[in-house]
Amino acid sequence: MKDSDLTPPAIVRNQHAAIRELFAKNVVPSYGRFELVLSHGAGSHLFDVSGRRYLDLGSGIAVCCLGHAHPAITAALVEQAQKLIHVSNLYFTEPQGRLAAEIVKRIGAGKVFFSNSGAEANEGLFKLARKFGHDEGRFEVLTAINSFHGRTLGGIAATGQDKVKKGFEPIMPGFRHIPFNDLAAARAAISPATAAIMIEGVQGEGGVTPATPEYLLGLRALCDEKNLLLLMDGIQCGHYRTGRFQSFQRILEGVPGGEKFLPDGLSMAKSLGGGFPIGAFWIREPYADLLGPGTHGSTFGGTPLACAVALKVLEVIEQEKLADQARKLGGWLQGELDRLAREWPGVVKRSRGLGFLLGLELAENIPALAGGDKPAALQFVNRLHAAGVLTVPAGTQIVRLLPPLNLMPAEAREGLAIIEAVVKELAAG
Ligand SMILES: Cc1ncc(COP(=O)(O)O)c(C=O)c1O
Repeated sequence: MKDSDLTPPAIVRNQHAAIRELFAKNVVPSYGRFELVLSHGAGSHLFDVSGRRYLDLGSGIAVCCLGHAHPAITAALVEQAQKLIHVSNLYFTEPQGRLAAEIVKRIGAGKVFFSNSGAEANEGLFKLARKFGHDEGRFEVLTAINSFHGRTLGGIAATGQDKVKKGFEPIMPGFRHIPFNDLAAARAAISPATAAIMIEGVQGEGGVTPATPEYLLGLRALCDEKNLLLLMDGIQCGHYRTGRFQSFQRILEGVPGGEKFLPDGLSMAKSLGGGFPIGAFWIREPYADLLGPGTHGSTFGGTPLACAVALKVLEVIEQEKLADQARKLGGWLQGELDRLAREWPGVVKRSRGLGFLLGLELAENIPALAGGDKPAALQFVNRLHAAGVLTVPAGTQIVRLLPPLNLMPAEAREGLAIIEAVVKELAAG
């Protein structure tokens, strides 16, 4: 080995340009990244390598549900890491069993499989659909236009947006897309090959669009009538983001017949580990043993470390009543976004969403953004970044707000004031 091989890499801490260079040379450029190099976080705030502070209203796209560097998460990580990080799924471990029980308790009678990511959880549900329909030659899953289900081959096939499929043809067969919130279209699309229908309770990437109660109840009845599995992707909209554990529980609150509603399968990821990677899917009781021994697996699925952290996340959410926090503060924030729409209709069209899964829909053709070569939502998000707030665009017109569930009221006010300032700046032209 040459001497130079032993030279440690240059220290790049606090060097924006040096870190950008490392990425340019060494990291696959598959992401459109913002010009921010982040270094650390505390609660609802993030800091870049120059020490600038940002209010994080994006939470890593609905992942960091307890904010950053939460002491309970750090302690759970350390404690479990000192005991046991990983064993194979050839063996039983207590954290996986306990986490499965906590998820079942919050959804309904059934069983849970653990994965590492959202796309992998959805892949499991696609396999469940195929297993379910296999003996009758049924394999097809109907998903919604504008849905998002992940970046694997199955995920892009399931996703109802052409932009994720482009360049990766031939697309995996077995998926067709139907208009969201349109029950008649779902009925009309069912073919002899259909095994399942999959939807998000609230479309996230597609523009923060909640399913209507009628659609959810109607799909349940349709799936029962046609012997199809009703699958839900709760990866972005789940884990208390809407104020209830799963979005369907919130959407169907107080709706006659809603309390009996359950999907047949439901995927989770993102907030489940509060930032530590873990995904899962729940299968309703009658189908819970369809994936028998040898049919499915994942080396890192449900490690003791991931499950111990996810258990702690649930405990903190419950102890600190963060579901109520998301509902109340989210409701307040949404009311304020509606006020912006009333006061500045040339800039803000309306608010969208539920709880802490919110969208600010921008008006079409805002003159101040007309000259830019980027979509309006991206330009708006860039202006928010410059003003110290991190958010995430959804499509070309919608700015998503996905704050940590433990966002403080003062932080919500701080974020709103900055959003309002950007809206006013655009209204002024
Ligand atoms: C609704 C939904 N499904 C699936 C995924 C894919 O999850 P992951 O990126 O963890 O694979 C995402 C990610 O944004 C999502 O929002």
